[in-house]
Amino acid sequence: MHHNILKFVNPYVRRQHDEFSEGEIMKIRDSVAFVTGANRGIGLVFAKELLAAGARKVYAAARNPESIPLSGVERVRLDVTDAQAIASAARVSGDVNLLINNAGIARWTGFLSPDSVEAARAEMETNYFGPLFLSRAFAPVLAKNSGGATVNVLSILSWVAVPSAGTYSASKAAAWALTNWLRTALHDQETQVLGVHAGPVDTDMASGLTLPKVTPVDVVRQVLNALETGRDEVIVDEMTRQVKAGLSDEPGIYLNFNPESAVPAASTN
Ligand SMILES: NC(=O)c1ccc[n+]([C@@H]2O[C@H](COP(=O)([O-])OP(=O)(O)OC[C@H]3O[C@@H](n4cnc5c(N)ncnc54)[C@H](OP(=O)(O)O)[C@@H]3O)[C@@H](O)[C@H]2O)c1
Repeated sequence: MHHNILKFVNPYVRRQHDEFSEGEIMKIRDSVAFVTGANRGIGLVFAKELLAAGARKVYAAARNPESIPLSGVERVRLDVTDAQAIASAARVSGDVNLLINNAGIARWTGFLSPDSVEAARAEMETNYFGPLFLSRAFAPVLAKNSGGATVNVLSILSWVAVPSAGTYSASKAAAWALTNWLRTALHDQETQVLGVHAGPVDTDMASGLTLPKVTPVDVVRQVLNALETGRDEVIVDEMTRQVKAGLSDEPGIYLNFNPESAVPAASTN
């Protein structure tokens, strides 16, 4: 049984790092990146670090591009829930070889809150349909530019739920499934597909959490390093590593996840 599953999966497994020739590995220097949600939080740090690492061009996309506190980027007005705007953005950014699906929302609603169904739809639109439309629009662009790479910013909550973020968790689980789909679908065009799972990160999104947090710079540097070493996944911090390992425990960690007691600190090593 196990053997058969492996046989089924194997055709899609990316070649290992040492099987790539020099020219096939993603290089940040001289890359052309497109970052969504680039005006603040992790997205702004992506734009800054990409420029610092020698990217040739960084398209910084935001709902309000005037609010991007950074020079040296190509500003793009983009709401990731607007499929038409996404298609136009891809048409005028034909040199992109690195797509970073970063924009996201967390509405922090309880199960029976009056607005939790509306929150669920909004989070799906931004966190799942956004990356889906962006990936579809940019797949041919990446193909034309030697395959390139795409990064999906996911979460520890792709794998476990907490009472105040069940709808967010569902959207990030869907985005994880999308990431796995993309890895198979873009295999033949040699696009590197990198899923990034993080616990609490010190941005506006997590400002209401008292848990230990990693910095956005730490997240971004791990991602840029993973791109250049041909990896498929980044597990940013210790809490997320414990959750991933616990998925196959008996009982699985997703049956009763408590971030306050499960993990001592969100350290990265
Ligand atoms: N912070 C965490 O603890 C944490 C942990 C794991 C994963 N993540 C993920 O990391 C990513 C970045 O989040 P963050 O922590 O940097 O949060 P943040 O500081 O709240 O920033 C969110 C970014 O997404 C943008 N955005 C939201 N909806 C958008 C839309 N419809 N169209 C375009 N842009 C939109 C925001 O733009 P506006 O300024 O226009 O709102 C902002 O730039 C998200 O995918 C998030 O789910 C965060």
